[in-house]
Amino acid sequence: MNILVAGGAGYIGSHMVALLLEKGHTPFVIDNLSTSDLKNIDSLRKKYGEFRFEQLDIRNDEDLLKIDVELDAIINFAALKSIPESVEFPEKYYDNNIGGTTNLVKFAKEKGIKNFVFSSTANVYKFSETGVLSEESPTEPTAPYGYSKLACEKLLEYSNQAFGLNATALRYFNVCGNAMDGSIGDPSTTNTSIFAALFLSYYKIKPTEFSVFGTDFDTPDGSGIRDYIHVIDLCSAHLKAIEYMQNNPGFNVFNLGTGTGYSVLEIMEKFKEIVDKDFQYKIAPRRPSDVGKAITIPTKANTLLNWKAEHSIEDVITSMNEWYKKF
Ligand SMILES: NC(=O)c1ccc[n+]([C@@H]2O[C@H](COP(=O)([O-])OP(=O)(O)OC[C@H]3O[C@@H](n4cnc5c(N)ncnc54)[C@H](O)[C@@H]3O)[C@@H](O)[C@H]2O)c1
Repeated sequence: MNILVAGGAGYIGSHMVALLLEKGHTPFVIDNLSTSDLKNIDSLRKKYGEFRFEQLDIRNDEDLLKIDVELDAIINFAALKSIPESVEFPEKYYDNNIGGTTNLVKFAKEKGIKNFVFSSTANVYKFSETGVLSEESPTEPTAPYGYSKLACEKLLEYSNQAFGLNATALRYFNVCGNAMDGSIGDPSTTNTSIFAALFLSYYKIKPTEFSVFGTDFDTPDGSGIRDYIHVIDLCSAHLKAIEYMQNNPGFNVFNLGTGTGYSVLEIMEKFKEIVDKDFQYKIAPRRPSDVGKAITIPTKANTLLNWKAEHSIEDVITSMNEWYKKF
């Protein structure tokens, strides 16, 4: 298949490009490089050979319309994703994330591209006492970032009703891990997700500066529990989503996670086992908006997409260690 990968120079997008190339598909990659650079594109070309890349902003519809390739699907990773930044600059998030996706939908309509996969997030959900979220759980984001994603989901749903665009919104839980050989990874130095923060702190800042925020949650060891999904598993669900849409036209939402939670303290122990047995960290008070537990029930994706996460938490740590030690 010929697939447009918007945001394909970023962390998840570049793993998607790798998977497409491995499976014999043809990616056409576009990215404005606002939160990434050419490092992953160069690494992908070194590993898999040439593919088309254009530095392009998806908000620029004239540039989009110049794309002259017959496309089977669009996968849109292109977005800004910092929750705190979205609180400070809501207009920037609405412009980039909603404006960009709107232009891609117009492009799909204009060019007759039938299938659209969208990167959504577990941040669209309302806080849940149980900490277990399914696609039926109520939505109520806490920040403009989540609202920008929810607005895009609605746009896709209405576009399906209005002109038959097949669309899938994939709500990611905690994405982590890298290519197992460490050849591609997260180009950002400001990522605050736990694994990125841990490895950046360990290799770039000062190992002992890393803090575990909150050990007084209502969880077995008191630290927060999350559902960590390896980026390679996450990307394979995107391909399954396109295959599913080709046989089952419509609009769908799927949660992507493993269904298993790990606590932050469990992760610290795994990190010690795999990377450094003498690793020391600090304990700090919980942050205001943190919740004790957030995991998904991935039954819908397991059943309808015939997809299941296969990588372990050890794979996550090993692959990230390979990337960050050369970062
Ligand atoms: N990483 C996560 O844990 C996570 C969780 C949930 C959802 N998501 C979503 O997944 C997608 C990919 O996330 P990521 O972690 O790879 O982030 P990333 O920042 O590494 O990648 C996003 C890419 O999109 C590009 N981009 C941004 N705005 C653009 C525009 N207007 N035009 C063209 N390119 C643009 C950036 O330059 C970057 O290369 C995002 O939509 C994000 O909201 C990520």
